[in-house]
Amino acid sequence: MKKTYFLIVLVLLLAGCGRKAVITDFNIVPEPVFMVQKEGVFTLHGSPKVSMVNLGQNSPIAKYIMKSMRHGHLHPSLVSAAEKSDIEIVVNDTANPEIGDEGYVLEVRSDGIRLSANTEQGVFYAYQTLVQMLPPDITQTNYSSITLPECTILDYPRFAWRGAHLDVCRHFFPAKFVKKYIDVMANYKLNKLHFHLTDDHGWRLPSDRYPKLNTIGSWRVDRDDQPWGQATPPQPDERATYGGFYTREEIADLVDYAAARGIEIIPEIEIPGHCCAILAAYPKLSCDGGPYEVQIGPYWPPKAILCAGNDSTLVFLKAVFDEVVEMFPSQYIHIGGDEAVKDMWKGCLFCQRRIRAEHLKDEEQLQGWLMRQMEDYLKEKGKTVIGWDEVMEGGMSKDAVIMSWRGLQPGMDAARDGHRVIMCPTEYCYLDYYQADPRYQPASIGGLITLAKAYEFDPVPIGTNSYVAANVLGGQCNLWTEYINTPTHAEYMLLPRMLAISECLWTPQDKKDWHHFRRKIEDQKDRLAAKGYNYCEGSFTPHFRVTRIDDNTVNVAIETEVPNTYIFYTTDLSTPTRSSSIYIGPINLEQGTHIKILPVYNGQERDSIYEFVIK
Ligand code: ACM
Ligand code: ZN
Repeated sequence: MKKTYFLIVLVLLLAGCGRKAVITDFNIVPEPVFMVQKEGVFTLHGSPKVSMVNLGQNSPIAKYIMKSMRHGHLHPSLVSAAEKSDIEIVVNDTANPEIGDEGYVLEVRSDGIRLSANTEQGVFYAYQTLVQMLPPDITQTNYSSITLPECTILDYPRFAWRGAHLDVCRHFFPAKFVKKYIDVMANYKLNKLHFHLTDDHGWRLPSDRYPKLNTIGSWRVDRDDQPWGQATPPQPDERATYGGFYTREEIADLVDYAAARGIEIIPEIEIPGHCCAILAAYPKLSCDGGPYEVQIGPYWPPKAILCAGNDSTLVFLKAVFDEVVEMFPSQYIHIGGDEAVKDMWKGCLFCQRRIRAEHLKDEEQLQGWLMRQMEDYLKEKGKTVIGWDEVMEGGMSKDAVIMSWRGLQPGMDAARDGHRVIMCPTEYCYLDYYQADPRYQPASIGGLITLAKAYEFDPVPIGTNSYVAANVLGGQCNLWTEYINTPTHAEYMLLPRMLAISECLWTPQDKKDWHHFRRKIEDQKDRLAAKGYNYCEGSFTPHFRVTRIDDNTVNVAIETEVPNTYIFYTTDLSTPTRSSSIYIGPINLEQGTHIKILPVYNGQERDSIYEFVIK
């Protein structure tokens, strides 16, 4: 008896002692189209009343919202639409033309919060914005009250296609992690998960029709104890123990999970190249009969290719696509088409016979023919195909969507030709590239895309012809996983750069502001940490802005990409420490000065000493 009494008092005390939060400004990513803050406030107390209008309380999105509020210690109680509530969630009776299918209006008024949209998806995004207005540690701290400034937000996306890609072939990631990936995409209003499911290094889909895809194609010799670039070749009798594939139940669960968060999963089945996993299982589908093995480590040039002259290849692919269509309800199916080395086709009697029979000019056109066969087949099933930009070289029907990765130009050319296009140029969107000084980062495939660089991404740069612009559906970031073998490392490469890509795809170009964004990221890091995501702190390489004062003197402004970095420096060739001069604003230096910099962030010395000679 006594014990129970004590417990109740403790719970009441704890409930009464919850912290109070007073929010004065917001750090919303992606930046909303229109946001105005007003004088008054509204205070959300422990158990807000929530009403829903035109939104069934059993709809996946309504369930998501209620569950998420509970997770954030908001203890919501659902009341009828007629009753006065603290948070009113409305799907409009009459569509508001300003906000389209995915936009929303969020109002904080003195008497409550109102989220409204034309669709459930819009409501979902209004809710994501609301969450970002609450304290970052809301899931960990019990707030007794949260006071918000009165404000109105009207928001809608710049692009319809706001994607993130995930390669689960080079390394396999469990369904649980894919859900975590989906969660963070949804938090930042991305709506397409490009799921790269087949490649030289593994086949990740379940197949009833071709079981060797799973017994053989899903497994490779394990070299995860060696750097990807230096993996030693497999021995003849070595067992293939690394890999796996999703079950049908897992795929169905992922598709539903994503849909409840407004995300369409687009499966990619890569043809005709990047197919070692297929050929290891079914070597007869190659031009030379094999044998092939599921690749480990770097495999370049990727010469394995499906024989386009062999009718069995078409039978196989159609059966595989039947299974894919059964599993994925998406409008789009990605059929790959990149980096297909066609040397094998040149020496193959069947492929050459196909070229002649179909009156094709060359092997490029043979790839076009094969891709179109699959496109026609999938069209009959109501699907739209996507191909990497190389597919333009073999000719595709105008209905095929082109994914432009070798720069923006191939996408621009395809859009001019009348194709719809998705932009993901390596220069901005390849999140497997380094994101800070490679000397202090985990090994990556190469390149350098800092947060600031990713933030420069614009799928439709100013001056783009309006016909071309109208054909650009949007863009996406790509996460290839050769060098990424754990969920925490995948998160590290994705975050926070995915947030930059999200703002580039959602926010109007003239509302983007790098300096504002970089400050918002500091708040977003707290949000990511509270949800258990790993992220990169950013690039601490100092950048200089030099202005000439006179013949000998220049004025030097220094900053890193990360705000709140303390810059300690010396100009006498000594090694800077935390006792050295601290940079507080632009300094005048003689030309030729040798400056050494120690960046310190969050109490930690970052990277190492950076040295520059001021020119
Ligand atoms: C690609 O990165 N090969 C599409
Ligand atoms: Zn062939």
